[in-house]
Amino acid sequence: MTIQTPVLDSAPAASAPAPAPNPQSGQPVTLTRFLIEQQRRPDSPCPAGLRLLLETVARACKAINFAISKGALGDVLGSLGNENVQGEVQKKLDVIANDLLLDANEWGGQLAAMASEEMETLHPIPGRFPKGEYLLTFDPIDGSSNIDVNLSVGTIFSVLRAPDACAGRDVTEADFLQPGAEQVAAGYAIYGPQTLLVLTVGTGVYEFTLDREIGSWRLTDGPMQMPRGNREFAVNMARRRQWSPHVAQYIEERICGTEGPLGVDYNMRWPASMVADVHRIIKRGGVFLYPADSRNPGKARLRLLYEANPMAFLIEQAGGAASNGTARILDLMPTSLHERVGVILGDPAEVAAASEPQG
Ligand code: F6P
Ligand code: MN
Repeated sequence: MTIQTPVLDSAPAASAPAPAPNPQSGQPVTLTRFLIEQQRRPDSPCPAGLRLLLETVARACKAINFAISKGALGDVLGSLGNENVQGEVQKKLDVIANDLLLDANEWGGQLAAMASEEMETLHPIPGRFPKGEYLLTFDPIDGSSNIDVNLSVGTIFSVLRAPDACAGRDVTEADFLQPGAEQVAAGYAIYGPQTLLVLTVGTGVYEFTLDREIGSWRLTDGPMQMPRGNREFAVNMARRRQWSPHVAQYIEERICGTEGPLGVDYNMRWPASMVADVHRIIKRGGVFLYPADSRNPGKARLRLLYEANPMAFLIEQAGGAASNGTARILDLMPTSLHERVGVILGDPAEVAAASEPQG
């Protein structure tokens, strides 16, 4: 029997140039090593502070994964009976995951503040800890209606630079209101058949799989480019009455398949978990739509800062496109922390076809 050498998440001692991460080479690359190699790149897309922050977020995701996987045995299923700021019933795990992310990220010295889908207002770094140069936003458990039925859920996160102006004062919500194009990192963990961490620091999209035996995230794919031309769309058909005529026609033509104007069949998927949809699209192609309610656009479903921006950054890095139906998501200027937007993302040709015609 061969005993495998454990791979530990510790930094290499020497400062010799490291080989480029290559999941095919047979040499395991941990998240730590990957981030250090990003830090060493001449353009340094991942300075030391950002690297430490991403490692801390990844560690919190491991703890969330552990809590989720206990299920009924850990008394973590079900709801708390109250609503979050979005008016949605909070699951126990929404709160557990939110607390795990706050606790893990408060003391490291990399952050000036955090904001979460589960909290009404921002979470400043307590005065007893040093304040850092980044802002972190997260959706602690995306797709949380899936928790109690054991389907895939995830954690989505986004990192922005704190504006220089907030160095000598308290961080305000306005400091978070930056276009998604300003993100320095974004990613998600997906708690599915495998536990994965997918992230970008603007140099491509990389996937890490949690190796439970040694507790490390190990690089398993990347840089990932989404395949083009997969005729698969993800949409909640029950919201049809809220779509614009253009979106309704886009979906109708695909449902008609070989008997319609496109002359080809499409498939539909709806796991009710944006993380699961985005991951499938990065790996297999296709398009995801959660359009704004055309009768009441402010009532869109997905959140710009916690969901749309980080996913748009990842999708663009993987060669896809992301639109709110009329404009590139990453160009939108947020007007409030919990703002909601329509989202159409994935295969650029499908995103263009589903977006409202210009002019
Ligand atoms: O967080 C919002 C979310 O759960 C997404 O993960 C998912 O795509 C969507 O809402 C599901 O919406 P619905 O409840 O309309 O199916
Ligand atoms: Mn969500």
